Amino acid sequence: MRTYLVTGGAGFIGSNYIHYMLRKYGDSIRIINVDALTYAGNLENLKDIENRSNYTFVKADICDQKAITKIFAENDIDRVVHFAAESHVDRSIKNPEVFVQTNVLGTAVMLNCAKAAWELPDGGFQEGKKFLHVSTDEVYGSLPEDDHAFFYETTPYDPHSPYSASKAGSDMLVKSYMDTYRFPANITNCSNNYGPYQFPEKLIPLIINNALQGRKLPVYGDGKNVRDWLYVEDHAKAIDMVQEQGRLFETYNIGGHNEKQNIEIIHIILETLQEMLPEGDPRREHVNEGLITYVEDRKGHDRRYAIAPDKIKAEIGWEPDTMFKEGIRKTIQWFFEHEDWMKNVTSGDYQKYYNEMYKE
Ligand code: NAD
Ligand code: TYD
Repeated sequence: MRTYLVTGGAGFIGSNYIHYMLRKYGDSIRIINVDALTYAGNLENLKDIENRSNYTFVKADICDQKAITKIFAENDIDRVVHFAAESHVDRSIKNPEVFVQTNVLGTAVMLNCAKAAWELPDGGFQEGKKFLHVSTDEVYGSLPEDDHAFFYETTPYDPHSPYSASKAGSDMLVKSYMDTYRFPANITNCSNNYGPYQFPEKLIPLIINNALQGRKLPVYGDGKNVRDWLYVEDHAKAIDMVQEQGRLFETYNIGGHNEKQNIEIIHIILETLQEMLPEGDPRREHVNEGLITYVEDRKGHDRRYAIAPDKIKAEIGWEPDTMFKEGIRKTIQWFFEHEDWMKNVTSGDYQKYYNEMYKE
């Protein structure tokens, strides 16, 4: 039975990936999820699978070499899928150090431990072992507005935020392991994800949650920054396909050609909420454009991201299944059905973060 070591599996994309994999492969694979449970890690995301015999949770920091070595020593790990990271740009602007610690040093520890466990006496690696490093399109920097340029796998790295710089550093470390040791790895650089279990510090869940509560919808700058949105399950599918069908040592960009200005996203969310809230629901009264509030721009705010997914499509045949209109409805439906999840994650420290960030 193939064993996956997933890092950061209690976060947004990691938990969606674990659900996807267990739905797809059932009991034919085993998953070990290692997560430090920072503010972004939430075991509630995995409640429905926590008792499965082929799923194990280990609470550990990826920077803790001893703890990670122990996992490799006690288990014959076939695949590593490395999600664990500090992931929010605004937090990186306020507190960059932890991004360097987890994203760069943590990745170094994961690489070292996997290399030590998989290396053969002749310097080669055991057959079939693979490491997939999950990264972001933000490492490529920012594209001009009204431009038809895209990010390709060959686009030079030009990160601007401490978050994207730390992810770029981690990508470079993975590249160096591939180049120096022929370490069996892939890198994926994906565009902005949205969907169930996303923490409401990111644009889409924050807007859904605030709109439902009748709170202001903060728009940075002129609201015309462009992001390229992908439904999270399509990202999970792409990661699996890259590990199964991708060429080792290659980088694959993942994105669904769904570029939208932030302000467009907010309008779509408001319209969709209006359509989906039942007749007579009191929230229909306040879910409207009057909530939109322009606020100070993010420092160093990247203007436009846009992925060219040509390589993954041509080589692997990956394409997204969920178009934005459907994806946003599914996401809103999920938030309607998980009000307690939102209440739990926004209690406590979230309020403090929100008040400091948005000066409310
Ligand atoms: P997230 O913040 O929701 O989850 C991160 C998870 O990592 C959490 O469960 C957290 O507890 C865990 N973690 C953090 N520091 C850790 C440490 N030191 N040791 C162990 N676990 C730790 O992030 P996400 O949005 O799910 O992103 C996952 C990965 O995907 C990241 O590497 C991110 O760079 C990448 N990515 C994200 C997006 C996006 O739109 N969210 C897009 C492309 C790539
Ligand atoms: P975010 O979800 O933080 O993702 P990223 O910065 O990694 O792309 O932000 C998406 C876009 O939305 C980005 O251009 C910043 C903007 N934004 C707002 O306008 N208001 C907000 O409250 C947030 C969180 C983001």
